[in-house]
Amino acid sequence: MLGSLKGRDFLSLKDYSKEEIYGLLKFAAELRKDNKKYLKGKVLGMIFAKNSTRTRISFEVGMLELGGHAIFLSDRDIQLARGETIADTARVLSRYLDGIMIRTFSQGDVEELAKWATIPVINGLTDYDHPCQALADLLTIKDSFGTLSGKLAYIGDGNNMATALIFACAKVGMEIAVASPEGFQPDNEIVEYAKKIGGKVLVTADPAEAARGANVLYTDVWTSMGQEEEMEKRRKAFAGYQVNEKLMELADPKAIFLHCLPAHRGEEVTDQVIEGHQSRVFDQAENRLHAQKAVLAALL
Ligand code: CP
Ligand code: NVA
Repeated sequence: MLGSLKGRDFLSLKDYSKEEIYGLLKFAAELRKDNKKYLKGKVLGMIFAKNSTRTRISFEVGMLELGGHAIFLSDRDIQLARGETIADTARVLSRYLDGIMIRTFSQGDVEELAKWATIPVINGLTDYDHPCQALADLLTIKDSFGTLSGKLAYIGDGNNMATALIFACAKVGMEIAVASPEGFQPDNEIVEYAKKIGGKVLVTADPAEAARGANVLYTDVWTSMGQEEEMEKRRKAFAGYQVNEKLMELADPKAIFLHCLPAHRGEEVTDQVIEGHQSRVFDQAENRLHAQKAVLAALL
């Protein structure tokens, strides 16, 4: 099955079947113990138009561990910043590299890059989606419970993380409840797509309704990268959407807490919850490495 992923792009979990996602998760778990150099001599280019700690370092370390190499390409330094087109950039990079990971604003730009590149393109986060994170999240849920079932409650902004988790849950058959204030809820198109493929999705403005009985409580920042000017407005809009001990109590007693990080303690999550015994956020961050190695080794 994994053989069929060779040469593919990884732009969204929407493009991957349940079997392919399970295959990647199984491979990721194997790669924890197996240090085979699947990518000896291969080179990954990593274009960043936004900051990153986990994505950059886990991709770079992942390539090293697989026997390959990664090159950091700040979008300010390459000619993209001076107006070279995405199409030209894609065709040039395809002559040097074996794969491209890109973190930028527009999902359309990532799709454009993938359209012109003749090597796999991996989405390392856009304003729309964050599939690498969602794959690591599924791995963390599977590590914690042995299966991918039950309910994930996502509390907060209907942002890239919400999109990625809606696709991830719908694909693997987990129920998802998203609680966001009016005006910050996930796009209807995303929710309708998830429902069409059999996903169980609830969108509500009530965090308690989403959290009740959940097996996973998940949150993300209220102000994502690129939205800094809206910070004050967002702090007000999301004031009732903090994951705190009171909200955790509504979840299943064995529930785990996840956050893609970086976290703003005291905003979307309290110190008690993120440092509490139900929190798995650092296992989750580690799983970025294992999940991405699976994606890299399968695609490249
Ligand atoms: N979760 C995540 O993508 O982290 P970075 O922004 O640090 O890469
Ligand atoms: N929603 C956040 C996720 C960071 C990993 C952002 O886009 O900034």
